[in-house]
Amino acid sequence: MTEPVVIAIDGPSGAGKGAVTQHLAQRTGFQVLDSGALYRLTGFAARLDGLELSDAPSVAAVARGLNVRFVPAQSGHEPFEVMLRGVDVTDSIRTDQAGVDASTVAALPMVRAALGDRQQAFRQAPGLIADGRDMGTVVFKDALVKIFLTASAEIRAERRYNQLKNKDMDVSLAALLESIQARDARDSNRAVAPLKPAEDAVVIDSSGMPLEAVHEAIWAVVSKVVT
Ligand code: C5P
Repeated sequence: MTEPVVIAIDGPSGAGKGAVTQHLAQRTGFQVLDSGALYRLTGFAARLDGLELSDAPSVAAVARGLNVRFVPAQSGHEPFEVMLRGVDVTDSIRTDQAGVDASTVAALPMVRAALGDRQQAFRQAPGLIADGRDMGTVVFKDALVKIFLTASAEIRAERRYNQLKNKDMDVSLAALLESIQARDARDSNRAVAPLKPAEDAVVIDSSGMPLEAVHEAIWAVVSKVVT
């Protein structure tokens, strides 16, 4: 039996992968995997449990046992409400600190292995849009389409600033830029599944592009192979 097709959307934090993923999901009717949310949830749950984030076996056990549900949202800023152990953590896992914690636990090979099967399970008919860092290079190497969406760190920090402000979160643009640069460095230089475009990825730099233009550039690639 042939497996449902995968469209991999990889790239650094704040490049617009989330918006692109939702747009493609609407156009194709495909399932969505927000793999970053799984790393965020792992870091968040590990902190709730009072673990050191460097304690790989314990954090990997948290990742394996994550009790999480993604519920389509009726309103609000996010497409899904995220329920961890029965509690709504949709906003709590989106803070900048949760992103930093996610990137810390994501550098642990045991944690990546623990989340591997869980990510594969999202591959269901009619197809999957997979958003992350290593969707095209590691998790879904056979993805039908691989997009690497990027933008300058300054533009990404500005976008993240506006997103968090819209959620009434208290943030500073300079601190966000510094945090994004540190996260890029950690994600790109780690030994396992580093952030980099797959050899067969289409690279799109969205720095000077309005969102609509980004959607259309990506749809031009996807619509050639997915009808
Ligand atoms: O995409 P998002 O900002 O939610 O991801 C949070 C962190 O999770 C990233 O900075 C990265 O370290 C990690 N991540 C990863 N592999 C993925 C998705 C996210 O390492 N596929």
